[in-house]
Amino acid sequence: MSQKFVEQLKEILGPNGWLEGEDTESYLTDMFGKQGETPLVARPDTTEQVSEVVKICAANNVAIIPQGGNTNVCRMAIPPENKSAVILSMARMNKIIDIDPECSTITAEAGCFVQSLQDYAREHNRLFSPDWGARGSAMIGGAVATNGGGQNVFRYGTTREQVLGMEVVLPDGQIWDGMRALRKDNSGYDLKQLFIGSEGTLGIITKLVFKLHPNQGQHCSLFGILTGMSELMNYLELAQKVGGDKLTAFELLPGLGVEKALNRYPALQRPLDQKSDWYVLVRFSDWENVEELVTTLFEQGFEAGILANAVMSQNLEQENNLWEIRDQMIPTQYFKSRLLKWDVSVPISKITHFLDSAENLVREHQQAAIIYVTGHVGDGNIHYTVIPEGEGDPGFDELCNRIYQDVDELVWSLGGSIAAEHGVGQLLKSRVRNQKSDVEYSMMQQLRHIFDPQGIMNPGKLIDS
Ligand code: LAC
Ligand code: ZN
Repeated sequence: MSQKFVEQLKEILGPNGWLEGEDTESYLTDMFGKQGETPLVARPDTTEQVSEVVKICAANNVAIIPQGGNTNVCRMAIPPENKSAVILSMARMNKIIDIDPECSTITAEAGCFVQSLQDYAREHNRLFSPDWGARGSAMIGGAVATNGGGQNVFRYGTTREQVLGMEVVLPDGQIWDGMRALRKDNSGYDLKQLFIGSEGTLGIITKLVFKLHPNQGQHCSLFGILTGMSELMNYLELAQKVGGDKLTAFELLPGLGVEKALNRYPALQRPLDQKSDWYVLVRFSDWENVEELVTTLFEQGFEAGILANAVMSQNLEQENNLWEIRDQMIPTQYFKSRLLKWDVSVPISKITHFLDSAENLVREHQQAAIIYVTGHVGDGNIHYTVIPEGEGDPGFDELCNRIYQDVDELVWSLGGSIAAEHGVGQLLKSRVRNQKSDVEYSMMQQLRHIFDPQGIMNPGKLIDS
């Protein structure tokens, strides 16, 4: 990359708008470590600057990696291995532009944190529903570009379902103003949908308009042990019957994860003395107190022989404690050897079938492997992790590949997806190829080519161009 090109970028961005050298390290590093190179991290603070940066990169045929909070878990927002690309960080475009309580919409720049929108909406008695553990460092542009999921999807839908409008800088630098705050607009192709979940391959999302929900700020949760995992779907049905649309989350937690979280974070309180391989965390929410509903679920759960033990949150502190435990179920913080990970989506009715069959498959390959499962059961979304023994032994890589292949095929045979809510990035690209027919894959490739014929937007991620 020529010095002239870098100087041009610096001039557009101004003295506070770029980083180079050592300062770029953290932008080249994600949860898997460091990868790639960058001549410069661009930190624009206006859409016009983003557009100018993209135009110069396009003219010089230099790849661009759009980056939000860099919290993704699929190697999505750093340059490809052994390649150099300009990283375009949205961190300085972090203004909340407007909230309209009457229309229940919020407008903000893409570099705002998810939590900033949650807090701001709550101050106006509204709910911004996207929510997951990394809420304090994930940015809304990335949340949309990856169609982030999380624990509120069950009630409110994915991030996709919250987006009303957006502004995008296209790979040739043109700005598309699609900032319409409409619930209905059948005036043609719904182009914003293409950018949602595009993982930065079609353009750079710079601003967004989201839908908000009424802030049903009273929560109460039940942390329970089932009489058997075969009761999982019966429990979901009962919770739905009792709570209706006040049922806002239905999550599965592994006993192993709960023990590890309690050990690691002494501030967390053990909810139940009885230990179990599995716990189910169910939340109800409303404007009014929902304790009565939770009590009903508690009583009926025992009467129906579904619940073996359970405790409900009695105050805000206990409620927060339960959900902080849930936030700490991420396996990467507890296991240092190789993890085989699936972010599985199956039809909800097939969840227990999936869990049983996947375990059988894994055990056929290795009896001693640790199986660690958490997830948003209410959405059919399971975070399935296998930690095999013997990393470094001859044949270990082959063993991992066989386990991956068998479980992937199981997921597909159930009509599921191996990329439910975390996306594809570099990590799942080749495996997801096998999930798609040639017709589907070719449509995706053609689409990418129409938007980005030069192939400069986030190369190496999502699909082969
Ligand atoms: C979770 C994130 C990792 O469910 O998706 O914890
Ligand atoms: Zn999740």
